[in-house]
Amino acid sequence: MGCRHTRLLHADAAGIQAAADILRAGGLVALPTETVYGLGAHALDAAAVRGIFEAKGRPADDPVIVHLQDAAQLGTVAFSNELASRLADAFWPGPLTLVLPKREVVPSEVTAGLDTVAVRVPSHTVARAILEAARVPVAAPSANLFSRPSPTTAQHVLDDLRGRIDAVVDGGPTQVGVESTIVDVVASPPRLLRPGGVPSEAIEAILGTRLKVPERGPIVAPGMLPVHYSPRTPLTLFVGPGARANLLRAVVDALEAGKRVGILALEEDTGLLPDGVCTEVVGAWNGTAGSAKRLFEAIRALDAEKLDLLLARELADPAVGLGRALEDRLRRAAQTIVD
Ligand code: TXA
Ligand code: MG
Repeated sequence: MGCRHTRLLHADAAGIQAAADILRAGGLVALPTETVYGLGAHALDAAAVRGIFEAKGRPADDPVIVHLQDAAQLGTVAFSNELASRLADAFWPGPLTLVLPKREVVPSEVTAGLDTVAVRVPSHTVARAILEAARVPVAAPSANLFSRPSPTTAQHVLDDLRGRIDAVVDGGPTQVGVESTIVDVVASPPRLLRPGGVPSEAIEAILGTRLKVPERGPIVAPGMLPVHYSPRTPLTLFVGPGARANLLRAVVDALEAGKRVGILALEEDTGLLPDGVCTEVVGAWNGTAGSAKRLFEAIRALDAEKLDLLLARELADPAVGLGRALEDRLRRAAQTIVD
């Protein structure tokens, strides 16, 4: 725990102005976006950006996303291109991040020394109001401690970063619940670096081409570690056709072995679970928008119970829409995957 006083600001005019003032002065403010809470700093102030890495315990080789008030500012931090303009027109403001060649004003702390910068225009009204009042681009990774699940409420931010940052603006629970989709628009064809809030099918429809999707295995986006978003309690994820039966068997086995078990559960499975397990219902099978909104909160809630193990099965078809992002986050959270 750090020794800074962390102010809890309301998402009203006074709170928004206070947040903007702190950002302009080089401080650290956690703010709600439509995806997850971000930990913001003045993106053109190298010392302020270094503060983000310190507060999170984030490795310096993991670049952060620059948030802009509107697409018209893109040219101030990056060199845009035709594909980027099309995607920006279609999806901004919203949960899409574009990777483009960076302008010199962007400090290397933001981009971890890369010659590209990741940029997005968030749609959350509070994020937009803060960006408008601050009148500077804001660098912001998710506002969690390094390798913890991303925060979807102000309380999650305080649980991780109280004493380490100057303020958090409470805008209530975030709407999307998983982070933005990241597309590298320098590459040809454009590459999907991280599935997220905008389904890749929607992006491909605008581009008129398929995105290059990296095979599972080597992680392409810098800082995208295979294990990430992790609960402290080991999570086993069951995938594939036998997932449900294997999950139910594992629950019984663990209980018989005297273990304390938590389930990240689908609504369909709750009736089948024996007594004595801690259950957090995430949503219904293929109810992807609802499950995305609940996922990180459910992981954090189970983790707080200090159980021996957590079990989950796939929440949706992993090849369709938001199901891709759900699958990606679950796999990163899992210590063991059973196929
Ligand atoms: O929804 C979101 O994207 C949230 C909210 C706060 O905007 N932010 C977020 O940031 O998820 P973060 O730091 O947790 O993830 C940023 C990721 C990096 O880990 C890296 O994979 C990718 O964005 N990234 C950033 N700059 C990049 C670059 N120049 N080239 C490739 N990938 C980059
Ligand atoms: Mg993150």
